[in-house]
Amino acid sequence: MYKHHLQCRACGYGSPGASGTKSPNNERLIPVFDLGVQPLANDFRNETEEHAGHAPLKVMFCPNCTLAQLSVVVRPEILYSNYSYVTSHGKMMMSHLELLWADLIQEYGTGLPSPEVMEIGSNDGTFLHYIRSTGVNRILGIEPAANLVIQAAEKDIPTVHAFFDAATAAQQDPVDIVIARHVFCHMDDWHDFIKGLEIVGHSGTVYAIEVPYVLDMIEHMSFDQIYHEHLSYLSVMAIVELLNPTGLYLDRIIRYPIHGGSIVLVLKKRSGSGTPHESVFEYIKKEEGYGLGTWKNFSNNSLDAMEKLKRFIADAVADGRTVVGYGASAKSTVWINGVGLTRNEIRWICDETPGKQYKFSPGTDIPIVDPGALLRDRPDYAVLFAWNFAPEIIEKEKLYVEKGGKFIVPIPALTVIP
Ligand code: TMP
Ligand code: ZN
Repeated sequence: MYKHHLQCRACGYGSPGASGTKSPNNERLIPVFDLGVQPLANDFRNETEEHAGHAPLKVMFCPNCTLAQLSVVVRPEILYSNYSYVTSHGKMMMSHLELLWADLIQEYGTGLPSPEVMEIGSNDGTFLHYIRSTGVNRILGIEPAANLVIQAAEKDIPTVHAFFDAATAAQQDPVDIVIARHVFCHMDDWHDFIKGLEIVGHSGTVYAIEVPYVLDMIEHMSFDQIYHEHLSYLSVMAIVELLNPTGLYLDRIIRYPIHGGSIVLVLKKRSGSGTPHESVFEYIKKEEGYGLGTWKNFSNNSLDAMEKLKRFIADAVADGRTVVGYGASAKSTVWINGVGLTRNEIRWICDETPGKQYKFSPGTDIPIVDPGALLRDRPDYAVLFAWNFAPEIIEKEKLYVEKGGKFIVPIPALTVIP
């Protein structure tokens, strides 16, 4: 189900074992955060379906380039062949996609009236569907999940059913814009991925790689983004190190608030004439002082945050209150298994995604239900596991609050609303 991965994905530091030749001085990646053995965060199953199993969830830090990465790699076919994560169609996500697209056209210097666009990890085709509505007709998605390829086809979005790598890239025509949102940190073999990017581009191609930024994750205390799909927790120093020996360079970085703080890495080919935008140097400066100590504090604070939620729920239940979850996000799986919550504490979790409903929260017997349950059952507390969509969800569920219900937002510090 999984393999150990003990060599830095960006710079090669660390020995794969006693016979490894890469690290003559026996250099090893350093363990910085151990979440134990956990189920796969999106492994939502019903009573008739088998779960994939558990795997270690442990972060290792590279003292050479500052990349943080998981100690294991779960076989991608297990994670992605039938993928329950569907891009949100809500207001926050749609306005992010609109802004990102406008930036790509106006700011990142593509400048073409009708560019040819490829999206890697195109999910159900939501973004490409939007891009086409702006008059751009030459679009192509690459997506490994069969269920999502079918959903994209229903929207008439041309999609290649494949994992993106150099071999897949070799079968495509070059394009002007390549977008990969929250895909890069899911990839094991970055060198092959970069080779693929080089293959699908020409000298003027602009690549927009959206990733969660490690310092935002740490600042916001969102350790719940650590799960088996997220193999790497990216710093800008690590990406610079990774790109050094390749034909691509980091041209610009733009920050967006989506998913609790993401950055878009704009990559270009070295054959182009540009020099990096000042944002790249700003980020490198910001990372001075980022290191092992940062992770040590983060790990301790995260364990505290889990303890706080555990105690809050235990007290509420002891007082005869009812507690549920809102948003069966992958993050919810990390919380629930990290804290050790069961159906005795969390009665159910509601989520609008049809593919998650009437299944179990991975690793537990907590059922996922539709969001209507909030007004039907009127629990005292709903833990907002989709905290990244808090304003949107609280607005949508204002009737629940008006009738006395309370949301618990677990990070950056446990907050009860209202
Ligand atoms: P994500 O943070 O990984 O995107 O997961 C958010 C989850 O929350 C996802 O399963 C969809 C769910 N959700 C709702 O149920 N209602 C909503 O209004 C929004 C925005 C998300
Ligand atoms: Zn490294």
